[in-house]
Amino acid sequence: MILDKLQISHFRNIDDLSFSAHKSLNLFIGENGSGKSSILEALHYLGFARSFRTQKHRNVISYEKSSFTVFCSTVVVDGKRQKFGISRHLDDRCFVNINGTKSKRATDLASYLPIQIFTPQSSDLLLGAPKLRRRYLDWLLFHVEQSFNLNFQVFNRSLKHLNALYKSNQPVQALEYWHQILCENGEEISTKRANLLNEQLKHLINANLRDFLPEFCFEISYYRGWEKGCSLSDAVMKNRHRDQKNGFLSVGPHKADLRIKVQGVNVHEVLSRGQLRMLVAGMQLAQTQYLHMKTAKTSIFLLDDVGAELDEEKRKVFISRLNTSDTQLFVTAIDIKQLEFLENYNDKKVFHVEHGQVREEI
Ligand SMILES: Nc1ncnc2c1ncn2[C@@H]1O[C@H](COP(=O)(O)OP(=O)(O)OP(=O)(O)O)[C@@H](O)[C@H]1O
Ligand SMILES: [Mg+2]
Repeated sequence: MILDKLQISHFRNIDDLSFSAHKSLNLFIGENGSGKSSILEALHYLGFARSFRTQKHRNVISYEKSSFTVFCSTVVVDGKRQKFGISRHLDDRCFVNINGTKSKRATDLASYLPIQIFTPQSSDLLLGAPKLRRRYLDWLLFHVEQSFNLNFQVFNRSLKHLNALYKSNQPVQALEYWHQILCENGEEISTKRANLLNEQLKHLINANLRDFLPEFCFEISYYRGWEKGCSLSDAVMKNRHRDQKNGFLSVGPHKADLRIKVQGVNVHEVLSRGQLRMLVAGMQLAQTQYLHMKTAKTSIFLLDDVGAELDEEKRKVFISRLNTSDTQLFVTAIDIKQLEFLENYNDKKVFHVEHGQVREEI
């Protein structure tokens, strides 16, 4: 998907902004507080219906306004231009519009617009909870494997029911129905994640890392969330007594993790901050590559504050690899000098950001 026209209203310090994006590379340059991250944050709403900086939607609505809106139209493909929009209100109402049809489910947008975000906080993928790494795998499966979404929803529903039954100390017979559904879908989720990682994604990540961090040799593995050599059903039964006491299920794909090590040691104990960021860059680039390989979809990549913690060589290798991966890029930086190496790229637009407005450099 390639975005063309963008329109943002009442979003942080952006009052009313319209611009036409470049199909491959868009640079946003401006001082602190000018509105660069807010532009990316507004685009992020199109793909995730939420911010990457706050959990509270009301925080992004401009002061003294009651709602924000973000609209985009794509470039014409097969004679068709697609249009998407989202608005959120102070009273928490959310309106989504997909090609003229209204939807109340914010997540409906996600399947159309595969958006990826890379910020100085992206190292949390390696430093933070396993949930973030599961989300990394699941984002791809969501876009690539239709049946994964159903497995995921049904699994989560059965987990909720089973936990509630554990808490209320129900007899074994009452658990059977949800136990079976949970295990069937849990095994499916686990197999799909492991296949995704082991068959292709791991190779793509490793190939990127040979460029990005040639000094290290990474070991990437998937921990599925229960012990080796037994089925999920057996693992649930084995732990049932203790789990019922605690009131929640302690084994299953909701406990899975993606583990990355260097010589047997977790990467966050070995790599520097900048190196961790580059590792995440290699992982995210692999997502883009895999998505493009498996579907006709191309992703929209948002790179916020690209100068932070990455030296010039690293910025250069990351952006140039993204640029050759059929990705539409939106990059922010405080100073154009941080992106000097892009001077030779003719295929781009440069926008100067000031007080929530942009001026395109001609
Ligand atoms: N709800 C809001 N309404 C109006 N303005 C807001 C709101 N929330 C934040 N702001 C302001 O919007 C401005 C733009 O912030 P933004 O984070 O986009 O800046 P930036 O250009 O990315 O800066 P930096 O280079 O420091 O990252 C800031 O001055 C911020 O204080
Ligand atoms: Mg910023």
